[in-house]
Amino acid sequence: MEERIQSLLNEVNGYAAGDKAALEAFRLKYVSKKGAVGELFEELKQVPVEQKKTVGKVLNQLKQTAEARLQELTELLEASPVSSAEIDLSLPPIPNQTGNLHPLSLTRYRIIEIFERLGFSVADGPEIEDDFHNFSALNFPENHPAREMQDTFFVEKKGAGSDQDMLLRTHTSNVQIRMMENQKPPIRAIMPGRVYRNEAISARAHCFFHQVEGLYVDKNVGFADLKQTIYHFAKEMYGKDSKIRFRPSYFPFTEPSAEIDVSCLICKGVGCNVCKHTGWVEIAGSGMVHPNVLRKCNIDPEEYTGFAFGMGIERVTMLRYQINDLRLFSENDVRFLRQFQNVV
Ligand code: DAH
Repeated sequence: MEERIQSLLNEVNGYAAGDKAALEAFRLKYVSKKGAVGELFEELKQVPVEQKKTVGKVLNQLKQTAEARLQELTELLEASPVSSAEIDLSLPPIPNQTGNLHPLSLTRYRIIEIFERLGFSVADGPEIEDDFHNFSALNFPENHPAREMQDTFFVEKKGAGSDQDMLLRTHTSNVQIRMMENQKPPIRAIMPGRVYRNEAISARAHCFFHQVEGLYVDKNVGFADLKQTIYHFAKEMYGKDSKIRFRPSYFPFTEPSAEIDVSCLICKGVGCNVCKHTGWVEIAGSGMVHPNVLRKCNIDPEEYTGFAFGMGIERVTMLRYQINDLRLFSENDVRFLRQFQNVV
């Protein structure tokens, strides 16, 4: 009997299970109670008492080895690639999940593309800004109510380690100042970036959003240049049928100032929620750079003039893709984001 046990042990150790059927055959033969090993246990009952202890011991070893081997073979089979017989070539493939650009990035890239072709370069500036670059240099007088036009998040108030208030920029106009400080005209640049305002979050407002600032300073730059530039932008961005209008407005850093509206593409001017039934949607503020702003940056307003504009990227995107809630941009819901796959 010991010889049979030994030969079964050799079989168990040498067994290879190429598929599930072979694995099951192994289980039935060496592990299940009705298999070869099970039979030996039955026979053990007949073995004379004096031999029982030794035979029982080797038989138990065989049982344990067979169980361990079954475990091992199962794991090996699970880890091994499926055999060709088990692959169903008629099944449709599982599509690869690829990422895509965020709609705000799509719009930002498009805006950059349009202005780059007009000779504008792209510049960047800090999001944590000092009072001078966000307000004072832009002709916001100290304690003037104009500062209240924008609800500011302050990072550090004057006195605590800094000689002026530090804040999260409320607009990208701070980069205008940084450009004019560091570069002599001609300057022709756009400056995209994130801005922050202490506002309640709703479908139409958020505490952070994105703008693109535009600045063109040179000799003899006039309002007509601003108009033509924006007109060209609208045709490129929204198509030949889009219309533009300028409304007189006020900003401390421009004189004269104007707000820019584009004809509502969602209702084609008939009136809808997005355009508040006016047929027009505001997309930017603009104007001729105020002489005081040029002076603050050591540019002579007698020699140079310039135009500037600040455009809301969310607004432009909402109009472009007919999105009616600003919050969708920052919620990161993949059901929303995936809709921009293959969109340009
Ligand atoms: N900074 C303004 C805002 O955030 C937008 C703006 C208006 C920017 C007129 C400009 C400009 O450059 O000329 O509301």
